Amino acid sequence: MNTETKAQGRPQAIRVRDLMIDPPLLLAPMAGLTHSALRRIMIDFGEVGLLSTEMLSAKRLPTENPRISPYLIRAERENPLSYQLLTSTDKEMARAIDKLHTFKADAVDLNMGCPSTAVGRFGAGVVLMERPDEARRIVAEARRRTDLPLSAKIRLGSEADSGKLKDFCAMLEGEGIDMLSVHARFRQEPFARNPRWAYIAEIKERIKIPVVANGGIFSAEDAERCLNVSGADGLMLGRGAVIRPWLFAEIARGVFGRDIPAPAVSLPAMYAAFIEALEADYRAVYHLGRLKAFTHDFARNYKFGHSLACSVQSSRSMQEARERARAFFADNTEERIADSEDKAGDDENLVCCNGDS
Ligand SMILES: Cc1cc2nc3c(=O)[nH]c(=O)nc-3n(C[C@H](O)[C@H](O)[C@H](O)COP(=O)(O)O)c2cc1C
Repeated sequence: MNTETKAQGRPQAIRVRDLMIDPPLLLAPMAGLTHSALRRIMIDFGEVGLLSTEMLSAKRLPTENPRISPYLIRAERENPLSYQLLTSTDKEMARAIDKLHTFKADAVDLNMGCPSTAVGRFGAGVVLMERPDEARRIVAEARRRTDLPLSAKIRLGSEADSGKLKDFCAMLEGEGIDMLSVHARFRQEPFARNPRWAYIAEIKERIKIPVVANGGIFSAEDAERCLNVSGADGLMLGRGAVIRPWLFAEIARGVFGRDIPAPAVSLPAMYAAFIEALEADYRAVYHLGRLKAFTHDFARNYKFGHSLACSVQSSRSMQEARERARAFFADNTEERIADSEDKAGDDENLVCCNGDS
């Protein structure tokens, strides 16, 4: 039994080798978003069981400098932290994992779910689900190279074939994966499509390792429903945790019964803290792009957030972005915060300003 179970039956933690993920709430890897500055905002609110980097090219990793790479900067208090590797071949695994050991990684995750065509073109991400022999070699080599907790993150595959999906998951388990995260959408499905959490219940029938459900969790109510439908051992939060970095604490409190106070949130103060962290630790060339990426999601907290997102998106300097945000906060008090239905919507209302981040 890999989960620590409370009397009422809700799993309260996931144990993977020596790592305790407590509460069983994981941050999803997200390119351009799950870097140190935002991770620190999240852990300040608390209750993040396992942090994550964004996907890291296994090929490039060995030559990256962890002190200046925006992908690798990490504060000491960012614990535990899982590093996600993206690769199409087992040949890159040894050097990449050696490097992760020098970073004192707490866990290693293998990306087998990214649907981007650019990533797919070189044989990585979700296309590995169509190439199980290659996927098997990658997992076997990763397992040989590390004793750290090893996980994989997948989607549901290309078609509604749960037999094939379960065979793939069983193969991963057989090759030594310790934990599986499942983004409950098919390969081609957009984020606007409702996640298919019930598929996770089917996967759980077949394998024994902990299974973590991901996709479409924006509130404690979503978390509760997802756990009920999927029977998952834990939850992985993506955009919901970028919009509301206190969502882990909210779910820990509301769903896992943790005795913690309701998170106290000031959106302008949080935005300022994010900018301060960016400017303190990253080279200037990385500031504006990351601020735009964060603002795209953060703006959903406001009823008129598209105005904030668009004005920051079209800013040409940090100074300009900061002034525009300040003006927005002055005009938009927190009483006008959008409700959670708005937050869970797709990206259409922000499409106007998506171009140049
Ligand atoms: C901007 C962005 C970047 C992402 N980058 C990654 C990534 O680097 N690795 C990965 O496995 N998934 C990545 N994803 C997918 C997320 O990890 C997650 O599976 C997806 O957002 C669904 O979860 P959510 O509905 O909670 O956001 C990304 C998603 C977004 C929106």
